[in-house]
Amino acid sequence: MAATDFFSHSPTLPKTLKSPLNQNPFFQIPIVPLKPSPRLLSLKAVFSPNPTKTSTQTSPIHHCFSKSSDGFLHCEGLKVQDIMESVERRPFYLYSKPQITRNVVAYKEALEGLSSIIGYAIKANNNLKILEHLRQLGCGAVLVSGNELRLALRAHFDPTKCIFNGNGKLLEDLVLAAEKGVFVNVDSEFDLENIVAAARIACKKVNVLLRINPDVDPQVHPYVATGNKNSKFGIRNEKLQWFLDAVKAHPNELKLAGAHCHLGSTITKVDIFRDAAVLMVNYIDQIRAQGFEVDYLNIGGGLGIDYYHSGAVLPTPRDLIDTVRDLVLSRNLKLIIEPGRSLIANTCCLVNRVTGVKTNGTKNFVVIDGSMAELIRPSLYDAYQHIELVSPAPPDAEISTFDVVGPVCESADFLGKDRELQTPAKGAGLVVHDAGAYCMSMASTYNLKMRPPEYWVEEDGSVSKIRHGETFEDHIRFFEGL
Ligand code: LLP
Repeated sequence: MAATDFFSHSPTLPKTLKSPLNQNPFFQIPIVPLKPSPRLLSLKAVFSPNPTKTSTQTSPIHHCFSKSSDGFLHCEGLKVQDIMESVERRPFYLYSKPQITRNVVAYKEALEGLSSIIGYAIKANNNLKILEHLRQLGCGAVLVSGNELRLALRAHFDPTKCIFNGNGKLLEDLVLAAEKGVFVNVDSEFDLENIVAAARIACKKVNVLLRINPDVDPQVHPYVATGNKNSKFGIRNEKLQWFLDAVKAHPNELKLAGAHCHLGSTITKVDIFRDAAVLMVNYIDQIRAQGFEVDYLNIGGGLGIDYYHSGAVLPTPRDLIDTVRDLVLSRNLKLIIEPGRSLIANTCCLVNRVTGVKTNGTKNFVVIDGSMAELIRPSLYDAYQHIELVSPAPPDAEISTFDVVGPVCESADFLGKDRELQTPAKGAGLVVHDAGAYCMSMASTYNLKMRPPEYWVEEDGSVSKIRHGETFEDHIRFFEGL
């Protein structure tokens, strides 16, 4: 089609949209000019804590983001709309610090009576401020790269509460892990060789766990299943004896501390963890029978969350721990868990602004300023993340079914498909929920959409920036002096 033909057509309206307000979504709704970017202090001063906060906190399904009766979305009592108008740019990530605390407390309470380590999986979200907060709350850290290890050390995590995982750990990173005294999971024959070499270079004996693949089906998307027999992670149980002999052969370099497994992610049935734990304690029995004094069972992470906001009752941290408690106690073991998503996902939204609404063929689209660059889970895994508007749409706004898409030059650039929404005005705020895990940490700068800033609502109801947004100048810096 020639460019002139293209422009001679006015945008087709969604067939279902009838109200005058929606008849030309491109031109009729003025965007209120943004306030100049306030500095942190003025942001702190703008908002006050929600007086009704404590009453909602006691609810077992308390969401830090909730719609009030006037149709405005709140985060810990603050209007998301107000925060959106006050920050320097959109999209941005908005967290609740109290929700992070509540999530950790839920795990701590569940673990009462057990000797345990909560190893937060840094890959889920590597914001330094969040890591510092989790460390202050007593968490350890689970690392999958040398840089995650360096970041954990920067956040002052206790190295003896850190676990270094991975199927391709590099020698230089293993040396650092050995020097600092973190637990290292043995993933393969060559990995064991490298851990031995690292121990010699660091002149330190390394506490290792054998990552065993229990071959329990986690019943999740294949991209996030890890514990099956054809997985690239861990060792097959039939090779266990080879690894035990190899550890025995290196008494100066390796101390076998326990066994580890990680089945997969987004698991919503705790029976799956139970099945794996039964197998794992049997392996521990076999290992102990050979004279090894192993203390730790690490059951990995993987607990799912309520992405659908449908009111479904999903297992809680207590359900997870209770399902393995008797096994752990029966063998007098210390339990390591490695939660990522269930600690951080529900604490955050990606806040976007609606750029416009359009229709092509049978599809209605809400186009927002956020995209697969900032949040790739829907594009990559077809993952559902709940979407809603932050403020009430005009009273005559029609409810329609929309794909919520970004501006990135890919048809895979969608945040949600077939979502029933009130037709939003240009400039309206729209959030993608449960964006605390594997969203910012998987963000890219594709199409030169620079990674967004991050904010959190603090306990006193003030809002603080916890990460600067990346800028065009940051990109240009990579070429300086070349
Ligand atoms: N431990 C190990 C060894 C892991 O591989 C993982 C996640 C975790 C712990 C933490 O699992 P969580 O509790 O967060 O489920 N990008 C995907 C998730 C990949 C998870 C990879 N491993 C997503 O966006 O859903």
